[in-house]
Amino acid sequence: MTDLSTPATTDPALRADPAESAEAALRADAAGPTMYPQESGFAALGEIRDLALQQLSPDVVDYLEGGAGAEATLRANRTAFDRWAIRPRPMSGVSAPATATSFLGIPLAAPLLTAPFGGDGLFHDGGHLAVARANAACGTASIVPEAGSYSYERVAEEAPRAARIAQLHPFDHFGERAARAKRAGYSALCVTVDCPTAGFRVRNRVNRFNPDLGYFAGNNEGADAPQVAEMFERLLGLSAPAWDWARLAEAAGRCGLPWIAKGVLTAEAAERAIEAGACALVVSNHGARQLDPAPASLDALPEVAEAAAGRVEIAFDSGVRTGADVFTALALGADVVLLGRLAVYGLAAGGEVGVRRTVELVVEELRTVMMLAGVASVGELGPRDVLRRPR
Ligand SMILES: Cc1cc2nc3c(=O)[nH]c(=O)nc-3n(C[C@H](O)[C@H](O)[C@H](O)COP(=O)(O)O)c2cc1C
Repeated sequence: MTDLSTPATTDPALRADPAESAEAALRADAAGPTMYPQESGFAALGEIRDLALQQLSPDVVDYLEGGAGAEATLRANRTAFDRWAIRPRPMSGVSAPATATSFLGIPLAAPLLTAPFGGDGLFHDGGHLAVARANAACGTASIVPEAGSYSYERVAEEAPRAARIAQLHPFDHFGERAARAKRAGYSALCVTVDCPTAGFRVRNRVNRFNPDLGYFAGNNEGADAPQVAEMFERLLGLSAPAWDWARLAEAAGRCGLPWIAKGVLTAEAAERAIEAGACALVVSNHGARQLDPAPASLDALPEVAEAAAGRVEIAFDSGVRTGADVFTALALGADVVLLGRLAVYGLAAGGEVGVRRTVELVVEELRTVMMLAGVASVGELGPRDVLRRPR
C-alpha cells in the first residue's frame, strides 16, 4: 500500500488519484498506536490547499485565490485574525467539547456550512453535488449557489439533508428562482446583497479569464447561450438597475421562505436588512472579491453583532482558514461560520472526500482549541474567550 504519510504534495499516488488517497486518509490506522495518524493523505488543511492549487490551471487558481482591486481586503481578512488570541483556561475540567448547534432551525453537527461559490465545476467535476454529499456525511449544510454548475434541484436530489439553503442575487428573476428553490425543498434563501456588480478583479482581467460560462449556468437549464451571456454582461456591467432594500423587502416578503442577507459589514446595513425582513445576516466581504478596500470581515463582526442584538442569527465568513479562526469568530458574535475557499480547496483536492476531510480537520482543531480554552460547548462561546493582542 502507498505510504500515505508522505506529504500530499509530493506523493505521486495522491497526484494520480487524490480522491482515493484522501479516502485512505479517512481510514483508521491499523498498525497500532502512533503519536499521529500515519495513513494520512490529508493530515492538515495546508496539504489540501497545496494539492488543490497543483490540480488547477493558473487562471483558475487566480479566479479562486484573487481578491478585488489592490487586494487590501484580502490581506486584511487574514491580519484581522492575527490581532486576536484565545484565552487559555488551564485545569478547566472541560473534556469532550460539544459542537452541535442549529442555524435557522437546520440541525448541524458543527457550527459550519459551506459558502455559496459559483463555477464549482471548474474545480472538480462533482462540484456542489460533491460538496453537498460531504456536508451530509459530516452533519453540516450547503448554501447552494445560483451561479453554480448544477441546479438547485439537482443538488437537492443528491443530498436533500445538506442542501437546505439556496443562494440567489436580487435581480429580476428573483421571484422565479425563489419559487424553484422552495419547490425543491430548500428551507431558506441566502440573498447576496454585496454584489450589484462583480468586484474589480484585476487578476482575472490580466489573465483575460474566459471560462466556459456553462460552469456558472446550472440554474439556467433550458436557457439559450445568449441569455446566459446576458446574465454575465449584467453582472459584469455597471448599468443594469440595481435593487434597494425596499425592493428586496417586497420580493422576499412574497417568496414564503426565511431569508438571510449575505454581505453585511456595518451596523447600518444590519439595521436595514433586519427592517427589510432578514432572519439572519452573513457578516462577509465576499472573501475580499467585491469592494476593495473594505473592512476586514472579522473587524466588522462585533459592530454587526451588537447592532443585531440577538434579533437575528449571525453567520460569518471571509478569511477563515483554521478551526481556531472558527473559534474566534464564534467568540466575537457569530452563531455559525461559512467555509469559502477552504471548501473549494477540499473540492479541488479530492471531491467529496476532500471536502469531508476539510470539515473534519476544521472540527478537530476547533474541538482541540475549545478544550484548551475550557469551553464546553459552542453555544457558550463569547467575547470573554478571546483577547486583543497588545499592539
Ligand atoms: C470561487 C468563488 C466563487 C464565489 N462565488 C460566489 C457566489 O456566486 N455568490 C456569493 O454570494 N458568494 C460567492 N463567493 C463568496 C463566498 O460565498 C464567501 O463569501 C467567501 O468565499 C468567503 O471568504 P473566504 O473564501 O476567504 O473564506 C465566492 C467565493 C469564491 C472563492
